[in-house]
Amino acid sequence: MGAWSLAALKESGANWTDAAEQALTAFAGDCDLDAALAPLLLVIESLSPGWTARIESFAAPSKPSKTIETTVQAQMKQGRPDFAALPARDGEAARLAAPLIVSDSRLIGAVVLTGSPHADPPRLTDDVLALMRIIALMLDDRAAQDRQRARADELTAILETIPDAVLVVGGDGRITRANLAVERLFGRSVRDLAGAHFSTLLPGIASVRVLQDDSENGGRDVVATAQTADGGAFPVGLRAHGVTLGGHSRFVIVVRDQTKQASERARIEALRAALEDASRLSALGEMAASIAHETNQPLTAAGNYVDAAIATLNGGGAPDQARALLTSARRMISDCGAIMVKLNRLVRHETAEKAPIEANAVISETVDSFKAIADGLGCAIERRFDPDLPSIKADRIQLQQVVSNLVRNALEAVRTSDDKRITVTTQAAGDHIRLIVSDSGPGIPEGQAEDIFQSFVTHRRNGAGLGLSVTRRIIDAHGGAIEAGRSDGGGARFLVRLPVGR
Ligand SMILES: Nc1ncnc2c1ncn2[C@@H]1O[C@H](COP(=O)(O)OP(=O)(O)OP(=O)(O)O)[C@@H](O)[C@H]1O
Ligand SMILES: [Mg+2]
Repeated sequence: MGAWSLAALKESGANWTDAAEQALTAFAGDCDLDAALAPLLLVIESLSPGWTARIESFAAPSKPSKTIETTVQAQMKQGRPDFAALPARDGEAARLAAPLIVSDSRLIGAVVLTGSPHADPPRLTDDVLALMRIIALMLDDRAAQDRQRARADELTAILETIPDAVLVVGGDGRITRANLAVERLFGRSVRDLAGAHFSTLLPGIASVRVLQDDSENGGRDVVATAQTADGGAFPVGLRAHGVTLGGHSRFVIVVRDQTKQASERARIEALRAALEDASRLSALGEMAASIAHETNQPLTAAGNYVDAAIATLNGGGAPDQARALLTSARRMISDCGAIMVKLNRLVRHETAEKAPIEANAVISETVDSFKAIADGLGCAIERRFDPDLPSIKADRIQLQQVVSNLVRNALEAVRTSDDKRITVTTQAAGDHIRLIVSDSGPGIPEGQAEDIFQSFVTHRRNGAGLGLSVTRRIIDAHGGAIEAGRSDGGGARFLVRLPVGR
């Protein structure tokens, strides 16, 4: 049989063409398939008196018995299709089946005739064959429609399970599809959005080209501002993928609400700023406390020198001696100014201003400044200085601060001991010198040899916990090292190494 068309059928003047037209009109109107097929079955029945016709679709989800399929398959192999008898038991109605075939010899179903075993066998005339051809085409077309609908349903189901808003956009930027998340996110109904330009939702993205470039770049997130129906704006991350749907090029745009992330980012930023403020404040506080700590000693010493000068003059002592005491006081006071500047540099981790100095002399001078306090406590400060100590490159005032902090701590430590002894030792050791301050106090609290160098770590009632932290910073700035340990007599021993630095 040649190519089939309704016009050709009409022209043939066959008496069933009205039925065919009726069936096809119903079919085109998307009516129920069985209803559309009914007039055609009626014609087949009228051409096969005594037989009832029905159709089995092999494409239908509920497939007919395998017997029908194998019978018509066998029938097909014999060339011209004809009715083949289906097995029937005695006394049962006879059943005949003929294959329904579509153009590429694909078996799509069967026409099954049921009738009395005594009825005249139906004939598969050209008219019946033409009708069967129409039926086959209708079955095939409906199966294709069903498959397409199933795919569309599947796509819809997938789209709806995605928590992110998904827009399908054509090359012209018009929205062809959107999932329900779009409705929730933008507050606009999906139906209203169909056909609208996507820039109504994403005003910042002017052209679909931007997205196209992006989809070619592996779909990285584009950060944009989205607009709600009531004119509100919120941040979104966009990801676009170019796809071909039904032969049309489309863009699938995934829109992620970034409001949470943005507020989280803002919160973290605020926290970071607050933390910075806090740490700036605490650094300032630490600095102020350190200045007070470090200038306390020279100021006290200056006061002591002035007192001694006054006592000398009052006692009729030599003016030269008084002048020397006042000069020392003057120097201590001017050191205070230098200490402040240098502490500031130290906090900023700037390198120390080093110049060659005679360490023994600087250390000795600092120890001298504690004479009054030591005498008051009844404590002897012994000096064991290496006469061959090389001069070192260091900051004089900062070296004084180191000695001052260590001696001050030692004096505090021996305060409650019966035996009050402090030894300050210097030793040459190749490329560096060693400065050791040991005392006869109770020693470093157990397990604290490292922690005591941290700022604000103190075990003294009136301590600030700053002396050792400033000391370590100064030594670090000189490329040296400091460690705390136990002295021979059971007290504390601080060992400082300072590079000679030639
Ligand atoms: N010679 C020492 N003997 C025993 N413990 C010491 C000695 N030197 C320091 N320490 C311990 O280390 C701690 C920290 O010392 P650091 O000099 O940093 O602060 P502080 O002396 O407590 O207070 P300040 O800031 O007034 O100097 C002291 O509180 C003390 O417990
Ligand atoms: Mg101290």
